[in-house]
Amino acid sequence: KRFVILISGRGSNMQAIVNMAKNREDIEIAAVISHKPNSAGTAWVAEQGVATAELLHKDYPVREEYDAALRDLVLSYQPDYVILAGFMRILTPVFIEPFANRLVNIHPSLLPSFTGLDTHERALAEGVKVHGCTVHFVTPVLDVGPIIAQGMVPVLASDDADTLAARVLKVEHQIYPAVVDYLSRDLLSVNEQQLVEYKEDV
Ligand code: GRF
Repeated sequence: KRFVILISGRGSNMQAIVNMAKNREDIEIAAVISHKPNSAGTAWVAEQGVATAELLHKDYPVREEYDAALRDLVLSYQPDYVILAGFMRILTPVFIEPFANRLVNIHPSLLPSFTGLDTHERALAEGVKVHGCTVHFVTPVLDVGPIIAQGMVPVLASDDADTLAARVLKVEHQIYPAVVDYLSRDLLSVNEQQLVEYKEDV
């Protein structure tokens, strides 16, 4: 299976996925595309011999025009799945529609709690005792979509947003490669109720 990964900057989730894929004949990372110039992730993954591209939204004043250009660029790699990994842009249906149920994202909270930004600060402010991350199929509604996998972490009394974010990020690096593995083995489907079904217990 061929995957294209979209990143914005650091790309630590992308790195976790690329490292897992190195040992897998059945997984090809066709390209890593960044919407910011010279991102750390782009440099690292180019070293791994993976094709990279940059599509800068500052070159496209109209959001839909950017999304159309991004759609065409991603399609040129003929991916089976598109992975958003720390991709900090809101995508419109112009991009989402052609990849329906083949486009996934990771969000740093236990959805449906804490959609949107600043999830760790908000989790602390609410006093939740468990927090985590969610990998889901992307639909036109932001941070909503069939949930594929979640990872959970405890919230400690000593936590601030940084310590909590770091604990969540470690779990992100475990569940995202696992989801790429499930996708590469065709283990997932979305049913009529828009719920993800696994073809076997994973
Ligand atoms: C992560 O917290 C992820 O949940 C969010 O972007 C952050 C950065 O991820 N989507 P990465 O290091 O760029 O993969």
